[in-house]
Amino acid sequence: MTAGPRARRRARLTGVGAYLPERVMTNADLEALVDTTDDWIVSRTGVHERHIAAADQATSDLAAGAVRDLLRRTNVRATDVDLLVVATSTPDYVLPPCAPIVGTMTGMDTVAAYDTNAACSGFMYAIAQATGMIESGMVRTAVVVGADTLSRITNWDDRGTCVLFADGAGCVLIEVDEGEPGTGILGVEFGSDGSGFGDLWVPAGGTRTPATASTPHGESCIQMNGREVFRFATRILVESSQRLLDEAGLTIDDVDLVVAHQANERILDHASERMGIPREKVVMNLDRVGNTSSASIPLALAHVHDAGTLEPGSLVLMVGFGAGLTWGSVLVRWEPRG
Ligand code: COA
Repeated sequence: MTAGPRARRRARLTGVGAYLPERVMTNADLEALVDTTDDWIVSRTGVHERHIAAADQATSDLAAGAVRDLLRRTNVRATDVDLLVVATSTPDYVLPPCAPIVGTMTGMDTVAAYDTNAACSGFMYAIAQATGMIESGMVRTAVVVGADTLSRITNWDDRGTCVLFADGAGCVLIEVDEGEPGTGILGVEFGSDGSGFGDLWVPAGGTRTPATASTPHGESCIQMNGREVFRFATRILVESSQRLLDEAGLTIDDVDLVVAHQANERILDHASERMGIPREKVVMNLDRVGNTSSASIPLALAHVHDAGTLEPGSLVLMVGFGAGLTWGSVLVRWEPRG
């Protein structure tokens, strides 16, 4: 495919899809597992319940559920999709990547497909990649998925983490558009700080410390320095958003909705206060889904879409942050198909 003048080719976000596994785990269920209370979980995190994958479900199953939902909602044919990116930290296997499996499950038989891992920022990185490929003329239609099955790497004996994490998948459709400037995906801001890698990690199971029969279970699960991550999240959410708005020549008053990573209600409250945006413009669905990592932002987007708050023309600021440490923000004008 030959690339035309760059300024005229834009990437437009035109649809959303979502999938949550059937099983709901409430705070009362957690009270039976660890020394915690509904009151503690709600007041410190905002989470009331979350969805947990069935024993025979893996990340590709959740991702395929979200992609099918997207294709149904948008009337796009699977064979019209050129690129499928799955952002995940919990692929079905170390090899192969999830995305080709998801492609085959959803009828995208020969689609260009790969995974990307930037933890809870992964969906933002994946959108940035798809946007770059569309704007450069490499592809015309991309499906970007965020999917994670964190329950498989959660230590269900650790009350400091097991109350937070959950499973799910969400996705968006990104299409080429030869429209006017000011439409589509308007900007991206992202970065990382690897010095904080140990603040949120799974110590064993990678190439540095392969898991063996004698590896303690907790070493193969998420470990977190909650206070440090909280500090990082509240700082970077505000800083990354501000840098992106400055770059785009916009202010927070221009933004209709902030769709930030659903990690903790207190982080969202803090962001609303520091950014000077009314709390009702900061989307929250973590009360029902918990922290689903890569799936968190597209699930929140689908939530506001279904609630009718995401209107055509809305300016949406999406912000992700998480392990790495990593972060990423995307500014987009919501322009659905049809
Ligand atoms: N139930 C009851 N008590 C709990 C608990 C639980 N589920 N988890 C921790 N506690 C206890 C601690 O043991 C500690 O007790 P102590 O004072 O006797 O030692 C006390 O509560 C306070 O713990 P602390 O870790 O200081 O709580 P906190 O106010 O920082 O809240 C988090 C903990 C995890 C909710 C909070 O740090 C957080 O949200 N961090 C960010 C996490 C995040 O967003 N991660 C993902 C980013 S992608």
